[in-house]
Amino acid sequence: MSEIAEVKINGQTYELPIITGSEDEKGIDITKLRSLSGAVTLDSGYKNTGSTKSAVTYLDGENGILRYRGYSIEELAGKASFIEVAYLLINGELPNKSQLADFEANITKHTLIHEDMKRFYEAYPSKAHPMGIVASLLCSLSTFYPDSQNPNRTEEEIELTIYRLLAKLPTISAWAYKNFVGHPVVYPKNNLNYEENFLNMMFSLPAEKYKIDPVVADALNKLLILHADHEQNCSASTVRIVGSSHANLYSSISAGVIALWGPLHGGANQAVIEMLEKIHADGTPLENWIAKAKDKDDPFRLMGFGHRVYKNFDPRAKIIKKAADDVLEKLGIEDPLIEIAKELEQVALNDEYFKARNLYPNVDFYSGIIYKALGIPTEMFTVMFALGRLPGWIAQWKEMIENKEPIGRPRQIYVGENERSYVSLEDR
Ligand code: ACO
Repeated sequence: MSEIAEVKINGQTYELPIITGSEDEKGIDITKLRSLSGAVTLDSGYKNTGSTKSAVTYLDGENGILRYRGYSIEELAGKASFIEVAYLLINGELPNKSQLADFEANITKHTLIHEDMKRFYEAYPSKAHPMGIVASLLCSLSTFYPDSQNPNRTEEEIELTIYRLLAKLPTISAWAYKNFVGHPVVYPKNNLNYEENFLNMMFSLPAEKYKIDPVVADALNKLLILHADHEQNCSASTVRIVGSSHANLYSSISAGVIALWGPLHGGANQAVIEMLEKIHADGTPLENWIAKAKDKDDPFRLMGFGHRVYKNFDPRAKIIKKAADDVLEKLGIEDPLIEIAKELEQVALNDEYFKARNLYPNVDFYSGIIYKALGIPTEMFTVMFALGRLPGWIAQWKEMIENKEPIGRPRQIYVGENERSYVSLEDR
């Protein structure tokens, strides 16, 4: 029997259907509430609003569960390659051997970016933040492939755009890094796998041969998988809402990159390292920083702590903490920042303020430490996140298009002035 919810407004009761998800989550379908009653719902920041029905990622914040297409993040991070996970997210199933080989071959074919795009880099200041460059160049891809602007693309055309995006983002990102450090760009090498090719474009120099360390490539694979999707977060919702106007896929992904850039979202990994460096340089006891984070008059927040949906622990943080330990040990790196991070975690986890608000370390608390150990500069951290998140954004966009979702257009409660007459300039 289908369940219903009753909403009573000024004595009048309205019945609304309840939608049940495959993990038994409940959602009240308010689609008809306004036409029935004249009322809308108000939910600033969409803290309690389901914006769509999605089959991509399942997340249970109370129990720290994250699954892509039904597969646990622990299993995927331990056993799969990032490209396999990308296929899974975008196509719904894990690929068999030949599907995976085709997928990889199709991506490898498109790793170059048009030579004209190289000139864009020359126009940026040498210290330009790589996220700004990446977002602009992703959007610019739509001008190099004008067919992508046609909202009535065939399935094959959409597939081609997806291959291009997956293939070109590592090149665009590595070249943004080269611009940042003032080094010549390195062209993609199609005999390398996805992670190796990216590392080679980042760290290879004309003067010395770069040797890819398998520990580094493995850690990168894991990091990319852990970031690959996270259901309706700020950037995925941005991609879906921009795409819902039938803006092209390149531009929709570019919008996602910009949403990710903010320090409250993907930019937190950069902010964590900057915070740890500040604490290290400052040398005052950690308790002072905890007190600052708790002080509502102080804008300081403990970066890498808290999450909109995880209220017990972030399962990705658990995996990444272990990976950070492994990487530092295998590479023989002793980083004072990791000691500060560990101490800070302990102090915060035992503090009433953080306990009462369920504030736990999130994925970004540790990801920056690994990136740093891999030799990736702070300004590139959020780009690394974007590289990982790309298949998730594509999967979310594709689902929205395939389900023919309407243009995203929330309502509001107007709290401004009532109608008033214009007063001429002389009389004001
Ligand atoms: N440090 C100190 N206090 C915090 C922190 C923090 N990092 N995070 C939340 N709080 C406090 C808030 O001040 C608030 O306190 P109050 O109830 O006394 O007013 C309470 O905890 C609830 O916080 P909200 O901001 O309402 O929670 P929300 O779900 O809106 O925000 C967010 C979540 C943005 C992640 C927040 O915890 C934060 O800013 N964290 C630091 C930034 C960060 O690490 N972002 C990365 C998120 S993960 C990702 O995007 C991959």
